[in-house]
Amino acid sequence: MTTNLNQDWPEPIVRVQSLSESGCSAVPSRYIKPPSDRPNVFSVASPSMNIPIIDIYGFALDQDDSLRQTILNQISDACRNWGFFQIINHGIRGELLDDVRRAWYDFFKLSVEMKQAYANNPKTYEGYGSRLGVQKGAILDWSDYFFLHYLPSHLKDHSKWPAIPDFIREMTEEYGEEVVKVGGKLLKLLSLNLGLQEGYLQNAFGGEEVGACLRVNYYPKCPQPELTLGLSSHSDPGGLTFLLPDDKVAGLQVRKDEKWITVKPAAHAIIVNVGDQVQVLSNAIYKSVEHRVIVNSDKERVSLAFFYNPKSDIPIEPAKALITQDRPALYPPMTFDEYRLFIRTRGPQGKSQVDALKSPR
Ligand code: OGA
Ligand code: NI
Repeated sequence: MTTNLNQDWPEPIVRVQSLSESGCSAVPSRYIKPPSDRPNVFSVASPSMNIPIIDIYGFALDQDDSLRQTILNQISDACRNWGFFQIINHGIRGELLDDVRRAWYDFFKLSVEMKQAYANNPKTYEGYGSRLGVQKGAILDWSDYFFLHYLPSHLKDHSKWPAIPDFIREMTEEYGEEVVKVGGKLLKLLSLNLGLQEGYLQNAFGGEEVGACLRVNYYPKCPQPELTLGLSSHSDPGGLTFLLPDDKVAGLQVRKDEKWITVKPAAHAIIVNVGDQVQVLSNAIYKSVEHRVIVNSDKERVSLAFFYNPKSDIPIEPAKALITQDRPALYPPMTFDEYRLFIRTRGPQGKSQVDALKSPR
């Protein structure tokens, strides 16, 4: 592919918020998905289905081995069979979750003009954006977003973060710190569950030098939600994703056995999912699972996706202990920087990126 990411967007950016607020009664053709990708009711699982909800509080209690084992087992089952779960009692104050979500909601409610100062470009993606991928004429998703770097520290630049509403930077800073702590805990749990040393995954991620970034998604009201998607089906390219969902509006759907399950978030839960890099490190014992977002005609939605990633320039490859004669290494080593370039060029494409990585056998 010859697309040069140093360029600007291939065509003028249209804010989905503007389309939504213009009161148009039809979705412009750029946002209309082919029939097979639309949120067709026949592909949606029974509304009573949900991804697992796991209370991880007991893992902090060193003295209770049986409780710790139960939590490990629940996480193991969720990673193997779902690629997605919700954690509760994760240690992050509910008030902080509500406040940071509210602050970002208020940011997106500002006029488009006020946010243009943060407009992003496809070189770094940092800032206020309305598309992923630089293919001219691509069918777009019904959402705007804000993308920022949290770690490594030298990439974190508060001047690129929103200055309003009040305290949004402080709250985002504190939220990031808390999620990074939870990320470290979960990498331990996953390492133990894979039969690796407790510190294996953290180490493979670059130890102290992990990467972390935040993508805040804003899904405006949509006049014809049955024709489009807020976010096309994709798996997350990074390590682990921690999603703070909207507390009032559902929208995230997770693929399970050829059906789409609409996630019903528990109060103050954080949704965790396995990204492509953990699929690679685990030699596909854990799989990054496809998910997508549907939109509504009468409700907007906000979510905060925090990506906990390997250091971007170290090779990521299957753990040696998980390579056997029966199960050779499924992926060649590749840095996260190299990997991410695929996605940033082509936009969300299901799981084609990680699948394309498979070594010929
Ligand atoms: C993402 C994502 C889901 C949501 O940003 O990668 O999957 O509910 N978001 O917004
Ligand atoms: Ni995602």
